[in-house]
Amino acid sequence: MKNKSNNCSPNPLKEEITLKEHWNKAYSNNNNDKLGWFETDVTPSLNMMEKTGLSTTARIMIVGAGSTTLIDQLLKMSYSNILATDISEISLIKLKERLGKECNKIELIVDDLTNPVVLNRVDPVHLWIDRAVLHFFTEEKEQNRYFTLLKQSVKQNGFVLFAEFNLEGASSCSGLPVKRYSKEMLIEKLGSDFRLVDSFNHIYTMPSGNKRPYIYALFKREAELTTMPSA
Ligand SMILES: C[S@@+](CC[C@H](N)C(=O)[O-])C[C@H]1O[C@@H](n2cnc3c(N)ncnc32)[C@H](O)[C@@H]1O
Repeated sequence: MKNKSNNCSPNPLKEEITLKEHWNKAYSNNNNDKLGWFETDVTPSLNMMEKTGLSTTARIMIVGAGSTTLIDQLLKMSYSNILATDISEISLIKLKERLGKECNKIELIVDDLTNPVVLNRVDPVHLWIDRAVLHFFTEEKEQNRYFTLLKQSVKQNGFVLFAEFNLEGASSCSGLPVKRYSKEMLIEKLGSDFRLVDSFNHIYTMPSGNKRPYIYALFKREAELTTMPSA
């Protein structure tokens, strides 16, 4: 893999491919319901969203959205300002196909969270949602770039919702190594501008039936937006 130095896949890829190609292949080669992270029940995220008290006009950015059904649910609940972004254009095409006309109600952006070109110019959001994305950034440089983007993108009094592999979680996913998180690690990454609102552990059952322990953590940004130094 060109931009990843360490790959613990049991079946190492024969040729060097970029992360974008890796994720595009994952989405092209599998139906949604065969993806090891695909959810039909997004209740844990919705329960956390309820604690924000945000209205349905709140601007919500779903990062590494892939083909998540959270978007279907939010549209059903009349949320009207959703931005979905992913490094894989194939994942967003699949999302579009599933949503049909409803897709016109959301904004789609293909970009890399660790090297953003478009995302660093979008209007700040009331809620940033990341399920199963941050944990793929195993290098500190990638994490720093991700958190720089997050901190410049979330409004004052806005929220951040993480759902990542917890410390008992798997050490890889989709053939890539992951960094597992505790709520203390997320608190440290976000810094003192963000207050933990709630967190819980959740066991996700993969389409294969295997279990994956996640940590869900919701934070509120309490301090003023500051200009962050670039990574
Ligand atoms: C395990 S999937 C989770 C997808 C979705 N959040 C969900 O819960 O169904 C990880 C997602 O992160 C995306 N991704 C990985 N690295 C990324 C990056 N550097 N920038 C943006 N998206 C990325 C992948 O394309 C993939 O859709």
